[in-house]
Parts: sequence; C-alpha cells; structure tokens
Amino acid sequence: MQSSDIHSFEDYQKAYNYSIEQPEKFWEEQANKLKWTKKWDKTLQWNFDEPNIKWFEGGQLNITENCLDRHLERRGNKIALIWEPNDPKERFLRLTYKELYDRVCQMANVLKRNGISKGDVVCIYMPMIPELTVSVLACARIGAIHSVVFAGFSASALAGRIEDAQAKLILTSDGLNRGAKQIPTKRIVDEALENCPSVEKVIVVDRLGWAVDMKEGRDSYLHNELPLVDKNCPPTPMDAEDPLFILYTSGSTGKPKGVVHTTAGYAIFVDYTFRNVFQMNESDSFWCTADIGWVTGHSYIVYGPLLAGATTTMFEGVPTFPDPGRFWQVIDKYGITHFYTAPTAIRSLMAAGEDHVLSYSLDSLKVIGSVGEPINEEAWHWYNIHVGKERCPIVDTWWQTETAGIMISSLAGVTPTKPSYAAYPLPGVQPVLLDGDGKELHGNSVEGYLCIKYPWPGILRTTYGDHERCRQTYFSNYKGYYFTGDGAKRDENGLYRIIGRVDDVINVSGHRFGTAEIENAININQKVVESAVVGYPHDIKGQGIYAFVILWDEGANENPDRIRSEINETITAEIGKIAKPDKIQIVRGLPKTRSGKIMRRILRKIAENELGSLGDTSTLLDPTVVDEIIEGRL
Ligand code: WT7
Repeated sequence: MQSSDIHSFEDYQKAYNYSIEQPEKFWEEQANKLKWTKKWDKTLQWNFDEPNIKWFEGGQLNITENCLDRHLERRGNKIALIWEPNDPKERFLRLTYKELYDRVCQMANVLKRNGISKGDVVCIYMPMIPELTVSVLACARIGAIHSVVFAGFSASALAGRIEDAQAKLILTSDGLNRGAKQIPTKRIVDEALENCPSVEKVIVVDRLGWAVDMKEGRDSYLHNELPLVDKNCPPTPMDAEDPLFILYTSGSTGKPKGVVHTTAGYAIFVDYTFRNVFQMNESDSFWCTADIGWVTGHSYIVYGPLLAGATTTMFEGVPTFPDPGRFWQVIDKYGITHFYTAPTAIRSLMAAGEDHVLSYSLDSLKVIGSVGEPINEEAWHWYNIHVGKERCPIVDTWWQTETAGIMISSLAGVTPTKPSYAAYPLPGVQPVLLDGDGKELHGNSVEGYLCIKYPWPGILRTTYGDHERCRQTYFSNYKGYYFTGDGAKRDENGLYRIIGRVDDVINVSGHRFGTAEIENAININQKVVESAVVGYPHDIKGQGIYAFVILWDEGANENPDRIRSEINETITAEIGKIAKPDKIQIVRGLPKTRSGKIMRRILRKIAENELGSLGDTSTLLDPTVVDEIIEGRL
C-alpha cells in the first residue's frame, strides 16, 4: 500500500510548516506520487475573487489508471472491494484489483457503446451495489463526468439534477433493498425522465429480479450489454483541470447546486488525506459506512482507498437491520481494521443499548473515525469505550462536499485528539477564524467564522452551469477567503472545534438541507400560504427539522394531523423522505419585521425551547403571534 508520510507529531509539525511556507513545492511532492501521462507546466494559478483556481495545468492523468492499472503488478490479487449485502444471509462478494479493473473496463465500454464520450454527463442513481463503484470508475475511465444522485431522493429531485447537468445517460437498478424495505428505483427514474429530454439511454442493473418497464430504444439491461463489449479499455488521458464529477448539495438558497471537482487536484488531495489521516498498512481493511451518493462515499469508499491500493468495503444495508448489531457483526466478519462512520449512526446504536455491541469482539479494529456533523462528547466516549475499546484512536474529520476531502482532523495515533474537536488542520490546509467584520482572529482561545485562506488541490472549482453562484456562495462574504458556512472555535492549544452551520443550512443525520429548499417544497401544497423552517437540536439526528406553517382558511379548518401528513407527502415527492420535518406546527402568523422579513432567529429560539432569550419582539409587525406560537409549540 501507498503509506503515510507522517509518523509522529514532529513529522506533522514539519510537514505543516513546510506546506505553509512552500505550498506549491509541498503539493508537487504529493502530485509526484501519482502516475501522470504528461507532466504539468504550472503548479498553481489562483484568485479567490472570480474565483479562478487551477492546479497542475498542462499535466495529464487518468484517476482510474492510478486507482487500478498502477496496482495490478504488485496487488493484482489483493482484494480491492468487499461488498456486504443488505441481507446477511445473501452471498457477499470480494473483487481483487484485477477483477475490479476488468469490470471497470467492460462497463466503460458499455458506456462508449451507448454513445458516451469524454465530457458527457452520466447520472448514476443506484443502490450500494458493486456496480455503483464500477460505474463511477467507468465514467472516470473514459472522461465522462459522473453525477451520482443518492437513491433516496425523489423523482422530482432526481429530475432537477438530471436537467441541471443535462445528463445523457442514466445508470440505475430495477429496485433496491434498504433494511426490510424495497424501493422501485427504475420506476422513480421513469417518472423523473418524463421531464428530461437530455437523456438518451438508461442502463439497468438487475438487482432484485423484478420485471420492470423497459422503454424500447432507450432502456437496456446491463447483463445484456456486457457480452457485447470488449474487455480492454485504455484510460482516456485527462487534463488536470478537466471535470471529474458533479455532486449536488444544498445551500442556503433555492435549489441544490452542482459542486464541480476536477481531475488532478481531486486525486492528489483525496490520496494525501486518505493515507495520512487513516494510517493504514498493506494488510488492513477499510470500511466507510457512507453511501456513495454523498461526497464521503466518493472520496473514502471509492477513490481514496483505491488510489492507496487498500481494501475498501461497501455495505448495501442499514445499521439497524436485521438488528442494531449489524455494523459490529460486519466488522468481525471481514476483520475490518479501519472503520469510518457518522455521529448520527453512533447515537442511534448507542440508544439501542450496549448488548448489541458487546456481543462482538471488534478485535480487528485499529482506527475509528467520525464524519458529517459535530460529534457530541457523550457519543464520542461511547464510541471510544464500546467500539474502540479505548485502544483505537478516533479521527473526527471535518470537511465538506466542496472541499473534496478531509481538511481538519487528527492523524490516527500520530497527532493529538480531544473529544468533540476535529483538532488540527491537515498539512496544506490554512484555516482562519474571522469576526463579524471579516477580520482575522489571531492567537488561540477564539471563536468565529471558519474560512480558508489559501487554495488546496481539492477545492471546488465552480458550481455547474452557474459560476456566479459559486462566487456568491463561497467567495463573496469575506473578500479573499473561501467561506465554509461553519462557525468554529480554536482552543488554547490551537485545536479546532466545529460548532455548526451559521447559514440557513440544516444538517440532519449528516445530510444537508437548505431551509429554503424545504420551505419551497412545503409551499407547493395548495393549502399552504407560507412556511418557515428552522433546525433544532435532536438527540439522534444532530439537528431536527421544525416547520412553522400558515394555512389558507379551508386548510385551517381541517384535522391538523391530516394536513401534516399531506405536507409530508409533498416533501417526500419534492425532495425525498429524508427531508420530512420532525415537527410541523400550524400557526396563524409568523414573526415578521415591518418590512415583511421573517425573524428566523425567534423561530429558532422557540424550536430550541430557549424561550428566555427571544430578544426584543416589540418591533415586530404583530408581536402577539410570538405568544401564540409559543403556546402551540410542539
Ligand atoms: C458540513 C458539510 C464531510 C462530508 C460529509 C458531509 C458538517 C462535517 C464535520 C465534523 C463537525 C462537521 C459541517 C460542514 N461537518 N464534518 N467532523 N464536525 N461538523 O458533507 O454534506 O458537504 O456537509 O457538515 O457543518 O459544513 P456535507
């Protein structure tokens, strides 16, 4: 395996200082660990005003050649991918590097046969089955841009993403397993495609053996395509700044935006962060429990582990099926050494009781990780004691879809940890905390808005089809900085603690939603006049969704539970079940200023049950609505 560069805290400090003093040299050394078909001319060109960021221009490489071909000689027979099915009684699958390579090449040829070439967008809407990883890599093999859409999104959300990216081809499955449930993926795709003229072909993986509708000339089964193609597919050389993928994520305004990552910078950053944060050895096995529909799965199920030549694991199911011991059973089954999951999963398994985790040995574990949201101290300690048995370092990794890879985290067993702290920035990452006026807060024991002041190779380059939106969202709040949307604190030793979002983004079980996005969905319901959505602390999910809704008269006279379930149906259709509010309170009015602006701060306080700190409400258009809302609080 490609190993870590850093083996001690001193190594880290040296690397960090070097990366600040000579950032280009530092990243050139990392870039040199990859296989390039053509060496770059210019290491870095950038400004954060437009923004315009280019790493390793003039260079060419293909990320799959680095994930696969490069390892064949020494690791052809090493397991690249372990696949654990939803049902523990179903047969699992293990693919060696050579087998994965063959499957990727064949899938790439299927894409070509179906008219896909470099620069085309392919949308992947699939469950966590091996074909998903193969599809992602097959796109990258031939320079097609993949846009993976999490298979929990609704037809309407899927259609919006297909349209925005003008995808030409969809890869999907007949249906999917999720715990005890099955979901008709292909039917959702068919519904989405009623409004997506850009799509020419749909390729369907037969996961469940269902007889699904196949549209003549448009749809075909993967198993009918594979026998028609050649086994060999040379990697298409990609320019360093050619787009590798689009991944949609929610922001504080309107519809989700397509974050764009490019080839070389992404590869270098994900490779570097994977190797150094997790500190794996050749015989170790990595398991990240995320779905490949999110960036965590892109970077730390697919690309990071494969770039390093590690063994990576995909799990089709959910943590509580058939019982809340499933994660621990899978760790023992495969001898997983490095386990990476989300605080929400830890908290839900913690709530299920210790017996489940105590029934398994977990002896193989060496390092355990957390990602996606702040991990509270109680969950951190439970994870440390019951899963890590107090002998496995915990890495609390802070990063975002936009950053491509881990930005702030301890390096396992090498740099200090502290419960609920992400700790130190990785070499090459320059975080700063700003005050409300945008001035840098120097020194320790300070708290402010978390920004990054220098580019790293994995920074997003644009938002697909709308560069101005990228500038506005990330580079306009504080001139000359990338703004993360998070608030953070730096303790007396310089360790970072991420406090949470400071914009109108809610993080529910590690999934990101814009409040406006959920409001838009609620407002589609004919009975709704207006709505306001805020987040509030939730024991398991981190944040819950609290919706305040005003109804037209006819609705106001109906049974509130009926209205609530109708609103939930609208949200499920517009976004997906994952965005359903935990609480829907029907109100007569919302707290508004005289100019008509909703005072969300007041609603947040009410949702958090912090009624003592509502502040001055006398300047509101109608102060009495606040008392009414408090009275009807859920
Ligand atoms: C937001 C990014 C990181 C990939 C998965 C989520 C929050 C993420 C942590 C952490 C505290 C965290 C932030 C960030 N977040 N990791 N270790 N500690 N907060 O990616 O959907 O792009 O969300 O997740 O608020 O901005 P994402």
